[in-house]
Amino acid sequence: MLELAAVSVSIAGVPVLREVSLKVPAGGRVALIGRNGAGKTTTLRALMGLVSASAGRVMIDGEDETRLPPHHRPRHGIGYAPEDRRLFGSFTVEDNMLLPAQVLRLPADETRTRLARVYSLLPELKDLSQRKAAGLSGGQGKMVALGRALMVGTRAVLLDEPFQGLAPALALRYADALRRLRAALPDVAILITESNPELLRPLVEQTYVIERGEIAPA
Ligand SMILES: Nc1ncnc2c1ncn2[C@@H]1O[C@H](COP(=O)(O)OP(=O)(O)OP(=O)(O)O)[C@@H](O)[C@H]1O
Ligand SMILES: [Mg+2]
Repeated sequence: MLELAAVSVSIAGVPVLREVSLKVPAGGRVALIGRNGAGKTTTLRALMGLVSASAGRVMIDGEDETRLPPHHRPRHGIGYAPEDRRLFGSFTVEDNMLLPAQVLRLPADETRTRLARVYSLLPELKDLSQRKAAGLSGGQGKMVALGRALMVGTRAVLLDEPFQGLAPALALRYADALRRLRAALPDVAILITESNPELLRPLVEQTYVIERGEIAPA
């Protein structure tokens, strides 16, 4: 359902992605592994339309989205949990999760249904719902970012290094949450980035490795 076809991206004149091709099938779970600075975040941003491709094509559900602005993506049901989370500290956890639904102008009953689904998948968020985001630990913030991505991501979620900086116990909880997500919503595709390939191996069906802006041969 998501595809980059030979996408190149330059930032400030420096080539950051070189002819990156990858596919995430509907309901598929795919890992993108790479070291610091390899181009993982830029790959996700290219899929979201947040950086523009200088060459190649970004295809979503078979439609060429290369030249369309980023606000088109959520309409396809694609949620994004950026590396730095970007929660609003003065908002509660619940309000942070409701924000994308408001931006999308989802009907109130659809919003409630999605929120209930997120709480049943990630019960820890129910307990945190009225806390201000500013007071959360890093691990809790990652859970909220996953919940927020799921409010929009009815078909796919892009998760940028969600395990980075998590204590081992929290990393296990996060991996459990991904397994529950898989069991409860088998049609939602997941593209997840990481630097350590071992961590994601049990969670995904396919792994791409990116090195210096290029997908390494399998
Ligand atoms: N806004 C920017 N301005 C300048 N260079 C950038 C910018 N964004 C990314 N780059 C460069 O592009 C390359 C790829 O960056 P990217 O953030 O995609 O890598 P990454 O794999 O996500 O790394 P990390 O593991 O640190 O998150 C790096 O060399 C980075 O320095
Ligand atoms: Mg990154």
